[in-house]
Amino acid sequence: MAPKNNEGKIKKICSSVLKKIVPPKKELAAERKLFLEIKKKVEGMKGKHIRLEWCGSSARGTHLRGDKDLDLFVMYEKEMGENELEEEGLRIGKAVFRGHKWEKAYSQHPYIRGVIKGFDVEIVPGYIVKRGNEIKSAVDRTPFHNKLLLEKFSAKDKNEARLLKQFMKGIGAYGADLKNEALPGYGVELLVLKYGGFLDAVKGIAKWGEREVITFKKLERDPANDFFTPLIIIDPVDENRNVASALSFANYEKMKLAARKFLEEPSEKFFFGVKVEAWPQSKVIEELKKREFLAIKADFPKRILPDLVWGQLRRYLRKAATQLEEKDFAVRRANVWSDENKVFFMYELKELNLPRAKIIRGPMANDKENVKRFLEKKRKLLKKPRTEEGRIVIEVERADDERSAKKILQGFVNTCRTNESDGIKICLRNGKVLTEHEILEHYHGSFAEHLTKYLEGKEMFE
Ligand code: UTP
Ligand code: MN
Repeated sequence: MAPKNNEGKIKKICSSVLKKIVPPKKELAAERKLFLEIKKKVEGMKGKHIRLEWCGSSARGTHLRGDKDLDLFVMYEKEMGENELEEEGLRIGKAVFRGHKWEKAYSQHPYIRGVIKGFDVEIVPGYIVKRGNEIKSAVDRTPFHNKLLLEKFSAKDKNEARLLKQFMKGIGAYGADLKNEALPGYGVELLVLKYGGFLDAVKGIAKWGEREVITFKKLERDPANDFFTPLIIIDPVDENRNVASALSFANYEKMKLAARKFLEEPSEKFFFGVKVEAWPQSKVIEELKKREFLAIKADFPKRILPDLVWGQLRRYLRKAATQLEEKDFAVRRANVWSDENKVFFMYELKELNLPRAKIIRGPMANDKENVKRFLEKKRKLLKKPRTEEGRIVIEVERADDERSAKKILQGFVNTCRTNESDGIKICLRNGKVLTEHEILEHYHGSFAEHLTKYLEGKEMFE
C-alpha cells in the first residue's frame, strides 16, 4: 500500500515523534519510586487487602510523556462482600492521600483519586480472580491486561504502541472517556499486538472495510452478531468484552481515512494535529447564510461525573433531532459542543419553516378498502383528495406552532426540563433555542474554533 519511498520517510517521522513522546528516564524513575512508596504504605496497613498492584499503561511502559497517571489496584479475595470491598477500598484510598488533594470518583465501585508529587493517582479496589472472564466487577480484568501485555510486549513493541497512541491522539480518536467516543489505550495496544507494530497496524487499518472484527483466538460465536460497533476488538482476557465498544462510526471512518492519507503522504501533523484558526466573524456569517442552523444553548451539569454527562448529552442530541424529524423537518447534521461549562446542541436543517399545507401520501387509489379507512380518519382537509402516481394524496393544515423548527425545539426543551434524566434536567434549566444570529453572539474562544472546524468540514490532519 505505502509506496516504497514513503517507508523511509515514515521511519524518519517515527523516530522524530518518539523523541517527543517517550517519557524521559527521570520521569520513569520518579514514577517507580512513588509506586514503591505507596505500595509499602498500603501493604503495611492493617486490613483484608492482599496486595497493591500497579496497572494501566505506566505499569507496562506504554504511556506517553507527560501522562502522569498511576492506576493502582488494592486487591481483595473474591469471597469478600461488595459493601466491604467498597468501604475498605475507600478507607485505604483516603489513608494514601492523607495530606494531599483527593476526591471520590465513581467506576463500578466508588474509589479515591488524587494528586501526589504531580502524579494523578487512583486507588481502585478489585477482586483477585483466576481468569479474566470470571470477574466480579469490570475493573477485575485490568490486572489481566497488564499481565498479558507485560508477557507479550518487547521493549520495541512498547514504543510502537506509544506511536500508535500518539497517532490516534493526533487525529482525535483516542481515549477511554465517553466524551471522546474513541479507542482506549488498551485497545491501541491490542492493535499493535495483532499487527506486530505501528506501521503494520496503520497498513491494516487502511484496509479495514465497513466493519472489522479483531480476535486473538478462535471463538465459538461470531462476535459480529453480539456487538454492533463498527470495530470489534475482543479482549483476549475476556471474550465477553469488546474493547472498542465506545468507538463511534465517525471515529472509525476517521481512523481509516487518516491511515490511508498517512501512508500516501506521511507527516508529523497526523501525530500532533494542526491548530485551527477560527475564521473571522464575517466569514462565518457568509458560511451560515448558505445553511439553516438552530442551536440549543444550555449548561454543563457540574456535580455529575463529566463522563456520564457526555453520554447523556449525546443521547439528548439525537432525541431532539428525532423530535424535529417526527415533525417533518429534515436534519442534515447534528452536533454537540461543550467546554464543560456551556453546552451547544447544534442542528443543521434543510429548512427552518414548513408550509401550511402538509401533504400526506395515502394508499394506492385502487385499494378501495384502505382508501376508505385512510379518508375516514378525522382531519381537516385543505382541499379535495387527489391521485398522484396511483396514490391517494391529501393536504391537511399544519398548526402554526408545528411549522417552525424553533418553536418545536423550544417546546421540546421545555418539556425535557421536567421529563428527563437528572443531568439533562440541570443542563436544560436555562435551555434556550438560538437562531443563527444569536449563535454568533457566542462566536469566540474554543466555540469559535469548533464552529470553524465544523463549517470547514475538515479533519485535524487535513
Ligand atoms: P486508563 O484509562 O488509564 O488507560 O485505564 P491506560 O491503558 O492506562 O492508557 P493511557 O495511556 O493512560 O491512556 C487503565 C486500565 O483500565 C483498563 C485497562 O486495563 C487499562 O490499562 N481499561 C480502561 C479497560 O479495560 N477498558 C477501558 O475502556 C479503559
Ligand atoms: Mn492510565
